[in-house]
Amino acid sequence: MKRTMPAPWTLIPDADLSARNTFGVAARAPLLAEVHDPAALPGLFTDPRFDAGRAMVLGGGSNLLFAADPDGPLVALAAGGMRIVGDDGRNVVVRFDAGASWHGCVMWSLAQGLGGLENLALIPGTAGAAPIQNIGAYGVEVGEHVVAVEAFDTRSRAMLRFTGDECGFAYRDSRFKREPDRYIVTAVELALSRDAEPRLDYAGIRDELAAMGVDAPTPALVAEAVVRLRRRKLPDPAVVGNAGSFFKNPIVPAPVAQALAAGHPGLPVYRGDGEGTRKLSAAWLIEACGWKGYRDGDAGVSAQHALVLVNHGGATGAQLLALARRIAASVQERFGVPLEPEPRIVGASW
Ligand code: EPU
Repeated sequence: MKRTMPAPWTLIPDADLSARNTFGVAARAPLLAEVHDPAALPGLFTDPRFDAGRAMVLGGGSNLLFAADPDGPLVALAAGGMRIVGDDGRNVVVRFDAGASWHGCVMWSLAQGLGGLENLALIPGTAGAAPIQNIGAYGVEVGEHVVAVEAFDTRSRAMLRFTGDECGFAYRDSRFKREPDRYIVTAVELALSRDAEPRLDYAGIRDELAAMGVDAPTPALVAEAVVRLRRRKLPDPAVVGNAGSFFKNPIVPAPVAQALAAGHPGLPVYRGDGEGTRKLSAAWLIEACGWKGYRDGDAGVSAQHALVLVNHGGATGAQLLALARRIAASVQERFGVPLEPEPRIVGASW
């Protein structure tokens, strides 16, 4: 019997994207290519049905806002494997295919007895998207663990491998984010450990562990504390559409932060990326301007967390973007601080 090879990709014309973005806004793409094997990417990019010059990558759709329909094809990587590729008994390198669910990767690592990712539990999205915006939470950023990122370079059409240092990680930023759509991340390799020290310094973690009755925290217990905190503090995208923090915490020169903090007691100020900079709490600035829980039609600001824009049902991407601009303008006016969106905005510029 003749056996046919499964097609390396599936093409979906006029694809409905409303269930493929966690804001749940209506959007359609002229074509969606679901790629089952990343080795097929060079072939896809020469397929005449595929408008390679306008292609955009779609991960879990948890960090983007469709302000308009994309005008080119979308690429989604389907492979979601997880395996150990290096192990000296103590330090372990794991490899995740781009299509794997990030939270699934965190739980899988913990089940292998590997620590390092526990503070990043329950972040929506895929493993392939994690290095793009250098996901971070509760005092840990994924970039700290990245050994290598493999990516298809849509410009040279070559498969490349970047070391962690070559990824240019910064707060919610990387070389992949700075050149949108140039690279399609196909796999990530992360350094984990069998005896990692849990990182408990971020506000709330120790209290949550205490409330759980834990006095000897393991990585798995820290993950559980993070899950409990996130469930309580952040709206669940399965219940109300959202993309997590809509704004980055602004990084300002230290003297600016000092002056603002002097005038506004209670404003949280954290260390910045460099010596002379500080990071301010965008949530605090937004709440101080009265936006928390605000609603205009179906576009709103979460009543749980001021940094999270929500779609109560039928909001369009354009309505959410208009609300985001009003929020940023009011923070700018009152505090003189510009806010930058964290998610990618498709079909409009900020
Ligand atoms: N705050 C308010 N009002 C609010 C919420 C928070 O004033 O409605 C103030 C409080 O003072 C609070 C402080 O902001 O103590 C910090 O809040 P939180 O711990 O929730 O952290 P965040 O700075 O607002 C960042 C990340 C989150 C991540 C948390 C926890 C960014 C843009 N966001 O938020 O990431 O989960 O820290 O580590 O850096 C995401 O990126 O989508 C995301 C959810």
